[in-house]
Amino acid sequence: MTQFNYQNGRLFAENVDVAEITSTLRTPFYCYSKASLRKNYLAFEEALDKFNSRICYAVKANSNLAIIKTLGDLGAGADVVSEGEIRRALASGIPAKKIVFSGVGKTREEMEFAITEGVGQFNIESKGELETLNEVAKKLNKIASVAFRVNPDVDAQTHNKISTGRKEDKFGIDINLAPHLYQKAAGLPAIEPVGLAVHIGSQLTSLKPFREAFKRVADMVHIIRKAGHSLSQLDLGGGLGITYNDEKPPELQEYAELIQNTLGKLDVHLTCEPGRFLVGNAGILVTSVIRIKETGNKRFVVVDAAMNDLIRPALYDAKHGISSVLQPRSENTVLSEVVGPICETGDIFARQIELPELSENDLLYLKSAGAYGAVMSSTYNSRPLIPEILVDNVKFTIIRARPSYDDLLGLDQIPS
Ligand code: LLP
Repeated sequence: MTQFNYQNGRLFAENVDVAEITSTLRTPFYCYSKASLRKNYLAFEEALDKFNSRICYAVKANSNLAIIKTLGDLGAGADVVSEGEIRRALASGIPAKKIVFSGVGKTREEMEFAITEGVGQFNIESKGELETLNEVAKKLNKIASVAFRVNPDVDAQTHNKISTGRKEDKFGIDINLAPHLYQKAAGLPAIEPVGLAVHIGSQLTSLKPFREAFKRVADMVHIIRKAGHSLSQLDLGGGLGITYNDEKPPELQEYAELIQNTLGKLDVHLTCEPGRFLVGNAGILVTSVIRIKETGNKRFVVVDAAMNDLIRPALYDAKHGISSVLQPRSENTVLSEVVGPICETGDIFARQIELPELSENDLLYLKSAGAYGAVMSSTYNSRPLIPEILVDNVKFTIIRARPSYDDLLGLDQIPS
């Protein structure tokens, strides 16, 4: 159940008639529901209720300030991976203490910025990174709290490009080296090692890989503590999948039970970093039909959104459901291929799906587009980024306006 439902044959986002939005805002645009964000956040919070824990929203999933602020106002901290994301989290009112700085390639400048702003925790992924952070923190006369992101060598059984916990992946430090690095960190003047972090991938639809990873982390906690170190923090990353079509991801309750069973007795403070779970089904992408193009054996529905606006189908073969904004009167459907205008064969949103008879200007929407949609968009083919709106009950706000062509061209400079 999402907040995007038909009322008398018209798609509503909460209590806003989506077709009516298009009388003031040209398609394509992203449309998010504040009530969905709230509902998802509160459900996650409730599932973690019995733990000493916090939620740090993985800002990369959707980093619009209005989205971060909505979640921040509910109590979320932020999981960030760049100076830009730190700035976004801070600008949305998230206190620096509640920010976890993740990522395999933090630069010295980013570390300096994060330390100066008072970012609460650094998730470290290599010995070199640890040493650099120590140098930077020392120079600033500060102590950086560090969790080691371990690579548990577990296959998340998700799309290859979003699996991060196998030993051949670039992420984390070999879990068996964690005690050694922990020991080293304890001896560095500007570092305080506080715990471990793990994130094995995204859009997981089974608990099994989580179980494997959490068990390995639990074993490591014992080993590190036995060596005489204090360890108070475990960061469990994100990764919980959502339903795009017929996927059956674990229920939150099952996820929480798994945490209880694998890590419940450790007496640690837990951080979870959900991204997709909080925002994925809280957003849609609204688009119009430019034209119908029939070739010998195919019917192409050419829409005004494209792979530059939502790259997930092209990059991960993701399948976002597509439906009409106004429910068609006839039940007749035609096998259709939904494509964008970009000059690439991969610019396809859906292959061979049944859609109603459509004609120019008809409105369609792509479902579950709230996560990794707008944030991954580009201006390829010199298409300006598309607007984003946030619906709150009966009203909507444009939370990112469409840039003009002057804005787009104005970024370039012809040498004199
Ligand atoms: N924590 C860390 C360290 C991460 O790298 C990620 C996502 C998350 C948390 C949040 O994971 P989530 O709960 O959203 O699964 N662009 C891809 C997804 C890339 C995920 C990258 N890391 C997609 O569109 O499917």
